[in-house]
Amino acid sequence: MFRIAHISDLHVLSRTGAEWRAMLFNKRITGYANTLLRRGRVHRRDFLIAVLQAASKEADHVVVTGDITNLALESEYDDARSLLSGVARSVEVTVVPGNHDLYLPPIFHERHFAYHFGDFLKSDLPELALDLPAGPFPSVKLRGPVAIVGVSSAVPRPPFIASGFVGDKQLDALVRMLAHPEVARRTAVILIHHPPVDGRSRIAQMRDGLVDGAAFRRALAPLARGLVLFGHVHMRVRCVLPTPAGTLDVVAASGAALDHPNASVRAGFNLYDIAGDGAIERIGARVLDASGSAFENASIAERTECI
Ligand SMILES: [Fe+2]
Ligand SMILES: [Fe+2]
Repeated sequence: MFRIAHISDLHVLSRTGAEWRAMLFNKRITGYANTLLRRGRVHRRDFLIAVLQAASKEADHVVVTGDITNLALESEYDDARSLLSGVARSVEVTVVPGNHDLYLPPIFHERHFAYHFGDFLKSDLPELALDLPAGPFPSVKLRGPVAIVGVSSAVPRPPFIASGFVGDKQLDALVRMLAHPEVARRTAVILIHHPPVDGRSRIAQMRDGLVDGAAFRRALAPLARGLVLFGHVHMRVRCVLPTPAGTLDVVAASGAALDHPNASVRAGFNLYDIAGDGAIERIGARVLDASGSAFENASIAERTECI
């Protein structure tokens, strides 16, 4: 049995006043306001630490589906790298970027994500990766019955736009990767930040969804089974994506530091058990209780649409 813990949307916040003051004078103002008004009050450091510690103890591999930092500040990257390195001392870690990790074009083009998280981006088939500003993607780790495939959907966007884009070249590379015999004989576990299945209007998808979601889903057509794991929506949800060859389970993890009365939003991590023959045996979650002192088992209700 191979067990994967899935965490997402850590939104590690800068805690230094100097950087916060500097933010007031640049384009990060929208993210700053966002932090203060909507997210700053509900992200708890103690919740995040508890989630990282529990996930590292309970799984064979920890995957992180983006928005690891909040405003892609250097201090946030340093802090987040140190937190994930702590997890990596006991279990292997794989990450993909979220829109918050590549907040502005300079962060993207100066390759901050790959620079800070290079240890968590390594691929067993590096010759199939593209050299993208976010790092070498798609990546893959071949571990027992699973092939853990990382896809980057994070691109810099103007203020108030949070949508993702994979791009034709990366999708072509993904198709080649899924066809590789060492990948094809395993159960694919695909990581992407933005929602791969989205029942909302096209306008909403262009605002904060996966702009080329249809092309991404077409790239998954050869898969008869597998997991597509995402974040971004800050809620634990699950739906099904039929393919010509079978069915994929599409699952979101909530924000790993969120304090919220709704248990499907509150901090926790998802767990997936994959048997030696590649069968997906269990999809569930461990969620902090309302006091934040203990984890409880939770199911993730299957819905017609993930969002
Ligand atoms: Fe997020
Ligand atoms: Fe996001």
